[in-house]
Amino acid sequence: MCLNTVRSTILGMGMAVPPKVLTNHDLEKIVETSDAWITERTGIKERHILEDGENISQYAIKASKEALERAGISPEDLNLIICATVTPDYLIPSLAVLVQEGLGASRAGAFDLSATCSGFVYALSIADQFIKANPEWKILVVGAEAFSRKTNWQDRSICVLLGDGAGAAVVGKSPKLSQKGIIDFILGADGSKWPLLTLKGGGSAFPPFDDRLPREEYYIKMQGREVFKFATRVMEKIALELLERNGFSKEDLDLLVPHQANLRIIEYLRDRLNLPKEKVFVNIDKYGNTSAASIPIALYEAEKEGVLKEGDLVLLVAFGGGFTFGGVLLRW
Ligand code: ACO
Repeated sequence: MCLNTVRSTILGMGMAVPPKVLTNHDLEKIVETSDAWITERTGIKERHILEDGENISQYAIKASKEALERAGISPEDLNLIICATVTPDYLIPSLAVLVQEGLGASRAGAFDLSATCSGFVYALSIADQFIKANPEWKILVVGAEAFSRKTNWQDRSICVLLGDGAGAAVVGKSPKLSQKGIIDFILGADGSKWPLLTLKGGGSAFPPFDDRLPREEYYIKMQGREVFKFATRVMEKIALELLERNGFSKEDLDLLVPHQANLRIIEYLRDRLNLPKEKVFVNIDKYGNTSAASIPIALYEAEKEGVLKEGDLVLLVAFGGGFTFGGVLLRW
């Protein structure tokens, strides 16, 4: 292992979710579904959603403040803010600049990154490159999503899956001679599969109020079974490739933190990688699929619960609409 090159690492994490909880039993009153179906098919029991009058920027800022505090970094020390989101408050301005303003991070550049549920993994890899080029930089990476605002609450095939929330990480260089930090990453996409998961309305092809597009296309739509197949295939592939090309075996892995989309997808992956239950972090029961926020929220909770310990070899793997996918291998 070469310790002479700069490695970037997560210096502190934060998370924030809206207080309002929507349980499976609450959903039974809205659409034809049941707690039993949702639990058995997805592992989800409840999710947090924004109330009227709230916006996801509030939670992105709250999570970021906590990450900065835990990292011991002041907002003025930030050089860059990257927000992974496909559900920002506005198209203009970006969520990242709202976070920049909310924190008072006056020296930071700020931009949003659109890669659906893989967004945090993409953003972390970009931060890694910036740190390697500018080792003194401090970068805030946020995953924040408000899919409750883009969900058709009459469409049971998707409304039971999603939740709102935000997770944040401050990234900087790893201490000298430390093995801590990002070892390697994979980013990928398969644009040929875009029709499987769409939110067409409101973009420039079909601007808001365009009568050519049916109303339901202004909400997220998904062909769940096809997405499921793609997810299981691609997550296994990334996980094995990242381990193998860095000289690790499955047994070397201390913790897998997968995108929390469906417990069955996670269990399939655990099975394929032959990992014991305690080496795979799961919190989908409490939050549902929070898209780009899912991995940072999971990482945050894994650390807080003591599941994630210093020196652990950790693998993050994600997939999402587009399709996009990615993984990051790191030493905690
Ligand atoms: N409640 C009750 N019944 C339901 C519900 C529901 N919420 N949703 C679907 N059903 C019914 C269907 O109508 C179908 O009934 P039928 O057999 O009479 O036709 C039956 O349940 C089975 O439906 P399937 O779609 O085959 O169910 P499946 O086991 O595939 O589970 C699910 C569906 C949970 C959506 C699964 O396919 C899945 O998780 N896919 C992956 C989704 C995902 O990970 N998306 C991530 C991307 S999200 C993003 O990028 C923002």
